[in-house]
Amino acid sequence: MMATQLIDIAYLVAVVLFVQGMKYMSHPDTARKGNLWAAGGMGLAVVATFFAPGLQNILLSVIAIVIGSVGGWLMSNRIKMTDMPQMVSFFNGMGGAAAALIAIAEVYGIYHGSDMGDMANQILQPTATTYFYFGALLISLVIGGVSFTGSIIAMGKLQGFVSGKSVRWPMQKLTNNGLLVVMAVLMVLYFVLTNGNEAIIYILLVLSLLFGVLFVMPIGGADMPVVISLLNSFTGITAATTGLLFDNKVMLMGGVLVGASGFLLTVLMCNAMNRSLTAVLLGAFNSGGGAASDREIDTTVREISLSDASILLAYAKKVVVIPGYGLAVAQAQHVVHELEKLLESKGVEVKYGIHPVAGRMPGHMNVLLAESDVSYDKLIEMEAINPEFPQTDVVVVIGANDVVNPAAELDPASPIYGMPILQADRAQNIIVIKRSMNAGYAGIENELFYNPKTRMLFGDAKKVLGQLVEAVKAL
Ligand code: TAP
Repeated sequence: MMATQLIDIAYLVAVVLFVQGMKYMSHPDTARKGNLWAAGGMGLAVVATFFAPGLQNILLSVIAIVIGSVGGWLMSNRIKMTDMPQMVSFFNGMGGAAAALIAIAEVYGIYHGSDMGDMANQILQPTATTYFYFGALLISLVIGGVSFTGSIIAMGKLQGFVSGKSVRWPMQKLTNNGLLVVMAVLMVLYFVLTNGNEAIIYILLVLSLLFGVLFVMPIGGADMPVVISLLNSFTGITAATTGLLFDNKVMLMGGVLVGASGFLLTVLMCNAMNRSLTAVLLGAFNSGGGAASDREIDTTVREISLSDASILLAYAKKVVVIPGYGLAVAQAQHVVHELEKLLESKGVEVKYGIHPVAGRMPGHMNVLLAESDVSYDKLIEMEAINPEFPQTDVVVVIGANDVVNPAAELDPASPIYGMPILQADRAQNIIVIKRSMNAGYAGIENELFYNPKTRMLFGDAKKVLGQLVEAVKAL
């Protein structure tokens, strides 16, 4: 069998590993295995590529792989779980930069390299092949450039070295849309009027880098997970077009998988927040605060002492914990698991109600609780747990806010109206652990906190849960 055929078979196996890996990743139980399968597929694809006939710069490629692998390994070991979205964004930005750099290297080779022949001149006599080739090249370059700077700004917003606020400027929409139009016109000009003018390619690169910055700056920091997922799908598209350029099947298929899954994830996140992608991209959510509502709510706040809370929990039959962003910030995942085991030792049934967009990244609560070895069969998804609330003695809401806000069901004037929620208000008793009456991500009041069945236990989640554990032990 020819080397190229063996390589194609290896690529096919790699793609199967990617697909199966993604399938495994869709459940917390098998997610680790999924990650390994997909990484194995990538490893196989990289090794197989080294056997490609005529491969050059092998030493440089090995050095680049070693630098990338060591850097990735160090980063993923050191990064805190709450900083994961920034790291994903950084890696995504590197993918975009790689696609743009490959495209630029290719352009340079075409216009100045000896081995490429006079390919640029072929633009003078355009054929379907040259249009296709240069079209793919320009798409890789432009989308890769946008993905690079956009991802770095998204990372900066989450890490705090770029303002997390929605940064706007006069005629912002006009500038951004105008820039898109200019890039489209330049692409057309490249083909039809300038006979493949090389300078246009470099202008397009600069404009795409600029567009990445201008596109992400107006979007608020908390919306970054959605933006990162969208940029991830952009990087997938550039990988796919680069795969087309080099006739590399695994790059093409891998890119298609990343592009499609990134876009699906973006749409799923938007649906779970009940917001359109356009609203997210225009930053039209928490910028103006909550909509004014004319609903009359009795705003009496009822507190509960640690000892009363411990008695309520220890003598309950069924307790449902609802974790949210505050649990992640407080790093209270281990102590909540301790409380769960303690209550179970007293004969209490304990489950966790998981909202699809609780926290700040997809699967945030699953990942967090898995870290503290909470059994997966205790993590119950929103649709499954909602019917159980009326038979639940105590719901403990820990650092969650929007995902339990009844306004989503009751108040058409609320900006989160229509977002599916965990119906904690239907339980017999509700304990809410948070530091203050402050709003969550959506910036709006939560009438659950004023519900006569609700009692507030104020404080940092980790500290309060630690005290609760001690109080339950002392009973
Ligand atoms: P949020 O609505 O953001 O509420 C979190 C609450 O945690 C805050 O009200 C805060 O109140 C409390 N908190 C913060 N630090 C705490 C600490 N150390 N100890 C105890 N409590 C603490 O969170 P949620 O209910 O998880 O909802 C997630 C929100 O993020 C949704 O609106 C969702 O649409 C949005 N979002 C999610 C995603 C993904 S993919 N998950 C992506 C983008 C946006 P205090 O300040 O009073 O303590």
